[in-house]
Amino acid sequence: MKQQLDAELHAESATTDSFRSDVLEGLNKNPKKLLSKYFYDKTGDQLFQKIMNMPEYYLTQCELDIFKNKTKELADTILSNKEPFDLIELGAGDAKKSSFLLKYFVDKGVDFTYMPIDISGNILSVLQDKLADDLPSLDIIALEGDYFDMLNKATSISKRRKIVLFLGGNIGNMDMEESYHFCHELKRKLNQGDLLLIGFDLKKNPHTILNAYNDAEGITSAFNLNLLSRINRELDADFDVSEFQHYQTYNPISGACKSFLVSRVKQNVHIGTFEFSFEENEVIDMEISQKFSRDDIVRLAENSGFHILDEINDDRKWFVDCIWQVV
Ligand code: AVJ
Repeated sequence: MKQQLDAELHAESATTDSFRSDVLEGLNKNPKKLLSKYFYDKTGDQLFQKIMNMPEYYLTQCELDIFKNKTKELADTILSNKEPFDLIELGAGDAKKSSFLLKYFVDKGVDFTYMPIDISGNILSVLQDKLADDLPSLDIIALEGDYFDMLNKATSISKRRKIVLFLGGNIGNMDMEESYHFCHELKRKLNQGDLLLIGFDLKKNPHTILNAYNDAEGITSAFNLNLLSRINRELDADFDVSEFQHYQTYNPISGACKSFLVSRVKQNVHIGTFEFSFEENEVIDMEISQKFSRDDIVRLAENSGFHILDEINDDRKWFVDCIWQVV
């Protein structure tokens, strides 16, 4: 018991340390940059839930359409190999979409363990409570932390074939170069025949995309600004959040949808003993949500060592869930 508590305290301070060092490093860069993986504290989780419910944020509706209405097609491809498996979900969140697949497997009596991975311990405990109620017979091992740290842990625990879920367009939080490295690394941690079910947000009318990230109500703005508030709360900092403004862009050629925070005035900000100065209109690079063409996706699969088994679109063809196999 005592040892477990020590381990937890250690994990807690290690997470705070990397948050602090990533923030300090990012604000020392030119242009300044913060990492969007830190959006998800308790307030950030709640704001992201609100985003998923906004009419403009079509991504969740599209992928929900796929998981709700095309569950059998997804499941059949996964179950074409009869061996029991472990289902590892990167960035599981509240498992809004994947729970349809989980329920389908549980109802069929499929032998599998669900291993959700998320950087937010808050959302993982919400998820565990929800699954304990909805699917009490489900085997679940929740892992809190970074994708690769926890993927290493998951693959060290798992002795069976692996199915990795990476949904919601989370891959879009990397630029094209990073997503290639990510998929390549992921492939190296898996075995031949293992599967990756990965969701991509597709290029479409640029207004539709920009509106999804630039809602009139200002929820996305609050979601970005919350990272400054989180830095104030957790790292002894004094950002005046009202002096920063959300700015969203979408480039329909590259497919990069990017958010920035703009300093409204010339100002200094303190984080512990460090001081950072902002010029009037200086920006912080906050997040990329990359959009893909079908060619981009095929190239990514081929270059990172996967074979495309299946591709399933929502009815509007705005989003695609692909099933890739390690070759
Ligand atoms: C959770 C990373 C898929 O990039 O679309 C939503 C996060 N940012 N609105 C995305 C987000 C602004 C979202 N992902």
